[in-house]
Amino acid sequence: MGYLLALIFGYLLGSIPFGLLITRAAGLGDVRQIGSGNIGATNVLRTGNKGLAAATLLLDALKGTAAVLIASRFAPEFALLAGFGAFLGHLFPVWLGFKGGKGVATYLGVLLGLSWQGMLVFAVVWLATAFLFRYSSLAALAAAVIVPIALYFISTPQIAGLFALMSVIVFIKHRANISRLLAGTEDKIGAKG
Ligand code: G3P
Repeated sequence: MGYLLALIFGYLLGSIPFGLLITRAAGLGDVRQIGSGNIGATNVLRTGNKGLAAATLLLDALKGTAAVLIASRFAPEFALLAGFGAFLGHLFPVWLGFKGGKGVATYLGVLLGLSWQGMLVFAVVWLATAFLFRYSSLAALAAAVIVPIALYFISTPQIAGLFALMSVIVFIKHRANISRLLAGTEDKIGAKG
């Protein structure tokens, strides 16, 4: 029963679509109608509002961190499940007909809650790839490859396994981005939607 509660608790936190809510509140309309149609920070940046993009990144990450830390406080054995629930909630929010984001910020937030060293690995790989190639999606995919491998050495097998699974899901959610990257039509970071 505790397993299910942790999963549902994480899911409900993760399902808050911050990107959609804050762009609407700022009078920018529906972020799903611009750019990639995603509700994440990269697409919010395509509105031209860097502050809202940063807020989306922060809030989408922190809901993952919060799920892990709150579960750790009350039932540490379920912290991973709560984090996974938050990730799933972001990807498949019931409030949006299960059509949510691509999970990268929430992945990062869950990582912060479970392994700050892993979060540093993510940040270094993401920033280096983004600096070199200027594609947010490519940076996220590179981080999603390296992080589970790094976690295998610096964390527990359970945490490494969870992130391997989440990385596979991140790749599946980036199918359209991968096609655009291969076709050379993916937007670079900062391009307007
Ligand atoms: O974190 C999402 C990013 O990897 C891709 O976003 O809007 O370009 O599909 P987007």
